[in-house]
Amino acid sequence: MSASQAAGALAGKRVLVSAGPTFEDIDPVRFVGNRSSGKMGFALAAAARALGAEVVLVAGPVHLPTPEGVERIDVRSAAQMREAVLGALPADVYVGAAAVADFTPRSVSGHKLKKTAGSDTLVLELVRTPDILAEVASHPRRPALVVGFAAETHDVERYARGKLAAKQLDLIAANLVGAAEGGFERDDNALDVYWNGGARTLGPAAKTEVAAQLMALVAERLDGST
Ligand code: C5P
Repeated sequence: MSASQAAGALAGKRVLVSAGPTFEDIDPVRFVGNRSSGKMGFALAAAARALGAEVVLVAGPVHLPTPEGVERIDVRSAAQMREAVLGALPADVYVGAAAVADFTPRSVSGHKLKKTAGSDTLVLELVRTPDILAEVASHPRRPALVVGFAAETHDVERYARGKLAAKQLDLIAANLVGAAEGGFERDDNALDVYWNGGARTLGPAAKTEVAAQLMALVAERLDGST
């Protein structure tokens, strides 16, 4: 066991984790969302706490209990998540485990959209959301270690390494979504983690176990960067 795997490997460190989906409102009763359960991000927050870190968890709309000893900030939309994450800086580590919506309706209707007689279609105009992870990675208060996630359906390493470089990350944890090993709405998962000059496979195992392994790796890489 390396020093950073020991209990207390993140003692004195502030770890900020984002988790879950974001919901982008269309009108008072409808939204655009995704299938993220938040389990991986919540497990990461618990794992960071278990290693002694002070942990802030920014959570999208999920039905999960707050891990013990973790400060939780609930949000709904990508814009709210961005505000909460940036507001929680500075931190030593940021783990962007949330499945942030890439697009949000250009405007939110104040009233429930009605079916219009004679029209079988509804055109919804969507605009890009801010990339929270990239913004944290280029922020003046950039954490020493910025960790992203990549959910890919194919060419995992190529896309993950592309994101590592494009978003200026220190680590990227990639999983194959739709694969038997794990992904959304599951209790187990397998991650391929990449950094400049290295790679490690974690799992397949329970998300709690994979999360513990990933936070141990974070502590190890943080040791190396400071
Ligand atoms: O580029 P892509 O969305 O696949 O990258 C996924 C990573 O970027 C995740 O870590 C996710 O939390 C983060 N992300 C973000 N803000 C967005 C979109 C993705 O922080 N608007």
